[in-house]
Amino acid sequence: MLSMILAMDKERGIGKENKLLWHIPEDLQYFKKLTSSRTVIMGRKTFESIGKPLPNRTNIILTRNTSYKAEGCLMYHSIDDILSEIVEPGGKRETFIIGGEEVYRLFLPHADRLYVTQVNAVFDADTFFPEISKEEWERTSKKKGSRDTPYEYYFEVYERKGRRYESADTGQHNKRSTTEYVC
Ligand SMILES: NC(=O)c1ccc[n+]([C@@H]2O[C@H](COP(=O)([O-])OP(=O)(O)OC[C@H]3O[C@@H](n4cnc5c(N)ncnc54)[C@H](OP(=O)(O)O)[C@@H]3O)[C@@H](O)[C@H]2O)c1
Repeated sequence: MLSMILAMDKERGIGKENKLLWHIPEDLQYFKKLTSSRTVIMGRKTFESIGKPLPNRTNIILTRNTSYKAEGCLMYHSIDDILSEIVEPGGKRETFIIGGEEVYRLFLPHADRLYVTQVNAVFDADTFFPEISKEEWERTSKKKGSRDTPYEYYFEVYERKGRRYESADTGQHNKRSTTEYVC
């Protein structure tokens, strides 16, 4: 199955100048817990923002540049190849789309589940997550973030209507990630 994981503000902002808009350690830990040992798919710009492959995951970069290489990552040049070769349709094992805007927009029509960290503030953003249509998506869980930050944030899970899989494991954990983005 195909899942997306993202953090967005009240106006669906996700980034600015190829960086994240906030530093929420609990969200980085959540991201790490959910994606560890899975395949993560990202746009070339998001990869360059992270700067290295995420450890303990299969890293896939989508780029139109057929000469682009990044050590420790697999390159793909078309969404169709990713959908046919990487994503297990109907399977329980999750493959994660991890951003950014262009890649979220491209894969949203194919996604089964969305893990959204909803940040209750408005930031100056230049990249955005598309609207989550109430006709297509049902919010199945919402948990308030527990750490002290200047703004509240919530961990939400959305399932595509009519396509329910077994419950998402959204349990929290306490290990710190070792980089600003996530490791
Ligand atoms: N808040 C969050 O959860 C979150 C998560 C991830 C990223 N972000 C933020 O999102 C921003 C980056 O988003 P973005 O939209 O600018 O970039 P992006 O989606 O990360 O990457 C865009 C690149 O993907 C490749 N691409 C897109 N469509 C393609 C297609 N159909 N076929 C082949 N390749 C394709 C192209 O690479 P080439 O140019 O190499 O061809 C394109 O330039 C950053 O600010 C980042 O920090 C936020």
